[in-house]
Amino acid sequence: MFDKDCIPATLTDAARSVLLAPEPNDKVRLTHLYAQAWREGRIDQVGAPGAPDRPARPSRPELRPPREMPRRGAGGNDTKVALLHAIAHIELNAVDLAWDVIARFADPSLPRDFCDDWVQVAVDEAEHFEILNERMAELNSAYGDLPAHDGLWEAAQKTAHDLMARMALVPMTLEARGLDTTPATVARLRRQNDERTAAIMERIGEEEIAHVAAGRRWFEYMAEKRNVDAVSAYHTFIREHYKSALKRPFNAEARDRAGMKHEYYEPLAAE
Ligand SMILES: [Fe+2]
Ligand SMILES: [Fe+2]
Repeated sequence: MFDKDCIPATLTDAARSVLLAPEPNDKVRLTHLYAQAWREGRIDQVGAPGAPDRPARPSRPELRPPREMPRRGAGGNDTKVALLHAIAHIELNAVDLAWDVIARFADPSLPRDFCDDWVQVAVDEAEHFEILNERMAELNSAYGDLPAHDGLWEAAQKTAHDLMARMALVPMTLEARGLDTTPATVARLRRQNDERTAAIMERIGEEEIAHVAAGRRWFEYMAEKRNVDAVSAYHTFIREHYKSALKRPFNAEARDRAGMKHEYYEPLAAE
């Protein structure tokens, strides 16, 4: 149980509380509570690093391999619910991923902005999860009704040893891929006259730009600190951890707004 008024002493303690809360509603509620406490200075210490290997999760959805996921392509109510469910699962993972960055990597040598950025990402992801859940409820469905996959957390575990590797793989590659795919999803929903879902996806796509930007910003900060070239370091990390070529088409306009220069991704793109 989580006491509403119990504010942890440090931000890394707060992060661990969210990670260890199994219920999505608690993850969302605690995210808002702790973010506000951090902004108001009621949490004013970063604290000691340390994160669980895996976040706690509800008993549903059942986690299955990616190839066994329900299709989220063509049209109709079932595919729409499958789409919403898949994105809601990504957003819930993203809440944990943002807090995991804080719990694992925040240290007193980093500027306060580092924590501010990842607290804000956690808040955005919690809101994304909430609006998707509301939409699923309108379609008589709920998070947990369908199976989901564990690919995002595998990416987190592969990069748990190094902040630069994490920034390269998660925000600068996986979230950037979301920027590329969102416009087609929004257009398809509009063709299906589902303005409600289209508007939600459009808002999420817009807000994800700041997350890619935050990843890029702290990647470049670390590159400078380690005295390495950011672009070639990114290529090295992605070749090691991502294994496949980046897929076109790129949403260059959204990537530009996140400060993702073409030099980062073009050399890694599929022919
Ligand atoms: Fe999100
Ligand atoms: Fe995000």
